[in-house]
Amino acid sequence: MGQTILVTGGAGFIGSNLVRFILENRPDDRVVNLDSLTYAGNLESLADFKDDPRHEFVHADIGDGEKLDEVMGRVDCVLHLAAESHVDRSIHDPSLFLRTNILGTQSLLDAVRRRGDSIGRFVYVSTDEVYGELPLDDKSQLFTESTPLKPNSPYAVSKTGGDMLARAYWHTYGMDVCITRCSNNFGAYQFPEKVIPLFVNKPIEGEQVPLYGDGSNIRDWLHVLYHCEAICRVLDDGVSGEAYNIGGNNERSNLELTKMLIELCGRDESAIKHVEDRLGHDMRYAIDATKIKRELGWEPTRSAWPAALEATVQWYKDNRDWSDRVRSGEYQRFYEQNYAK
Ligand code: NAD
Ligand code: TYD
Repeated sequence: MGQTILVTGGAGFIGSNLVRFILENRPDDRVVNLDSLTYAGNLESLADFKDDPRHEFVHADIGDGEKLDEVMGRVDCVLHLAAESHVDRSIHDPSLFLRTNILGTQSLLDAVRRRGDSIGRFVYVSTDEVYGELPLDDKSQLFTESTPLKPNSPYAVSKTGGDMLARAYWHTYGMDVCITRCSNNFGAYQFPEKVIPLFVNKPIEGEQVPLYGDGSNIRDWLHVLYHCEAICRVLDDGVSGEAYNIGGNNERSNLELTKMLIELCGRDESAIKHVEDRLGHDMRYAIDATKIKRELGWEPTRSAWPAALEATVQWYKDNRDWSDRVRSGEYQRFYEQNYAK
């Protein structure tokens, strides 16, 4: 039987891909998409689902308890993605991150708790950044679910707070909670402040790409649709109270990634500008996703790289107007023009 799934942050990068994934792959389910439309929220990413009766958009903040009470009356489960998500911004404004990612998560958990048993599973979409960083010189080390949490940036701390709160609501109140901890995502509709869309847009426009430090930092890249698939797998079959790592098994240094991106944009290495490093820049993230493979049968397809990266670069080339409208601010008028009464 179909369910009505509340997706918070469904106008963001992963959220909009997840809403699309659910509507396209789970025909019996409906989505209530709740998002406050911060700078990172872009309803144009779901323009083709604007009039879909299975997609309801609610313009609200996860901190607004009254609004949440109203929405909770018509949903069966929750996928919680709404967050401030950019590490560089968190370095300049930690308090916004703590407010949204910790207190906002608490507000949402409380709203679910007020509904008692009428709401089933709550999935908290966390991040591999809760584990801190790994050394560059020992590739045998990977993050597992039992790696101690040791977040380094204000963003990572705020996500760890939300992650731990979600677990505490399972432990204390017996709520049905699962947690996912995923590595770096790439794909369509990512806000152009993040490294992949930024490093496609700049070379196309004849500019240099600002690579932090020497580019030796490593990230484990996963296509966003695999992440969406894994979140749904945890929603359906995860064990309550458990956390699941999700990763691409696909470690790349920033320099390697940068070279691939500028080449795909037809530029040579003169398009790289080494700039001052990010404060506290984590060296390496690498996920051991054995548990979700063993217990839920999910695994990333390694062959997705580099084809999925090439397809993503092509998407940004083919959708210049989407990026242009983000950068001009035009995208922020979409809600008023199409939804607000
Ligand atoms: P994003 O910044 O693109 O989207 C975040 C969305 O949350 C936006 O639509 C924004 O409007 C909304 N939002 C922010 N504050 C809100 C509030 N108070 N109330 C309601 N909505 C609010 O982020 P993303 O990259 O799509 O990440 C989504 C989630 O996945 C985040 O929780 C992030 O921590 C997690 N995550 C991201 C990655 C990644 O590589 N991007 C990897 C692992 C986990
Ligand atoms: P980002 O996309 O911000 O994701 P995260 O910090 O969550 O991993 O950055 C990915 C990597 O790219 C990270 O190691 C920082 C680096 N980076 C740059 O070198 N230059 C940039 O302008 C940005 C935004 C990121």
